[in-house]
Amino acid sequence: MRNSSRGAVDPFIVMDVMEAARQAEEAGHHVIHMEVGQPGTPAPAIARDTLARAMREDPLGYTVALGLPALRRRIAQLYGEWYNVDLDPARVIVTPGSSGGFILAFTALFDAGDRIALGAPGYPSYRQIMKSLDLVPIEVQTRAEARYQLEPSDLDGIDYQGIMVASPANPTGTMLGKDPLGALIDAAQAKGAAFLSDEIYHGIEYEQKAVSALQISDDVCVINSFSKYFSMTGWRVGWLVLPERNVRQVERLAQNMFICAPHAAQVAALAAMDAGDELDANMAVYRENRRLMIEGLPKAGFDRIAPPDGAFYVYADVSHLTDDSRAFARAILDGARVAVTPGLDFDPVRGGGTLRFSYARSTGDIIEGLDRLGRFMRDRGHIV
Ligand SMILES: Cc1ncc(COP(=O)(O)O)c(C=O)c1O
Repeated sequence: MRNSSRGAVDPFIVMDVMEAARQAEEAGHHVIHMEVGQPGTPAPAIARDTLARAMREDPLGYTVALGLPALRRRIAQLYGEWYNVDLDPARVIVTPGSSGGFILAFTALFDAGDRIALGAPGYPSYRQIMKSLDLVPIEVQTRAEARYQLEPSDLDGIDYQGIMVASPANPTGTMLGKDPLGALIDAAQAKGAAFLSDEIYHGIEYEQKAVSALQISDDVCVINSFSKYFSMTGWRVGWLVLPERNVRQVERLAQNMFICAPHAAQVAALAAMDAGDELDANMAVYRENRRLMIEGLPKAGFDRIAPPDGAFYVYADVSHLTDDSRAFARAILDGARVAVTPGLDFDPVRGGGTLRFSYARSTGDIIEGLDRLGRFMRDRGHIV
């Protein structure tokens, strides 16, 4: 059978790392997982209980394509609670994870050949999904001084029909403040380009609250998910917020591409939005883990790091130790039994010299992982 050329996307390297870690575990080794970008916690108890009840009482068939009306209303309410933004539920579209949201948004907003500016390092699937839709990701190397976030001056001389940002970002955990975010939205709007804001890590923030693009303009596409803050990665439910005039096009695409996001997951997601105490407890763990990482990574020899504003990642410059982060991550897995992600996933140009450490798991794992990393680096003579 033939294959398409647009479908020939790169693998998600972290998945390969996960597979190598799994093989090590199968061989009887105990591995600390600092590679995975997902909470170790389940969906909130109230979400699981509510769904258990619904499974007894409701056939859980298709929902309408835009999502359960009660869930769309509750998501709109969240914008009031978190950002003091008054959002019409009619602008909220429930999607199969934010990944499903990307496919819908990119297809609805762009034509084949359109160019979308992205900052590198960044979440790798943006460029792979774009490529598979015959879109052209324009990856711009961001500056360390800008905390690896896109700046309007990065776009000088570049032609584009869209700009996409993430704040807090994966892999760096850095955020765009209101002014820098506003400047990028202005740049897009001045060109008649679409502005897309991936806000999947909102809620997981430490020193200050993340700014939503919707606090600045209504003429943006916001992408979010229940995967991270709500601890529901495997449930595959997320959402988009779009200007009213764009909703019908997305609805038609959603009807045809997905029919709907999983009904059961939508029921659970709606209940999860009222799990305040449990979600606060998860945040307390991330906060402590972040403190341990910021303190412990430099002691373990990974001292070229910046404290993350949000999410649960630390992005470390290891270019003084290696130019092959993939091999280095493999050596760490084999030598320390700690799984970490090579930066090449996020930045094909500079990522040979970077690693991403995730601290989404338990605090006990973080303590053990840092200890193992320190011993590994000492044995190799990288620290004394
Ligand atoms: C920045 C970012 N956006 C989107 C996703 C995809 O999330 P999901 O499809 O589970 O909502 C991820 C997953 O790690 C991510 O890091």
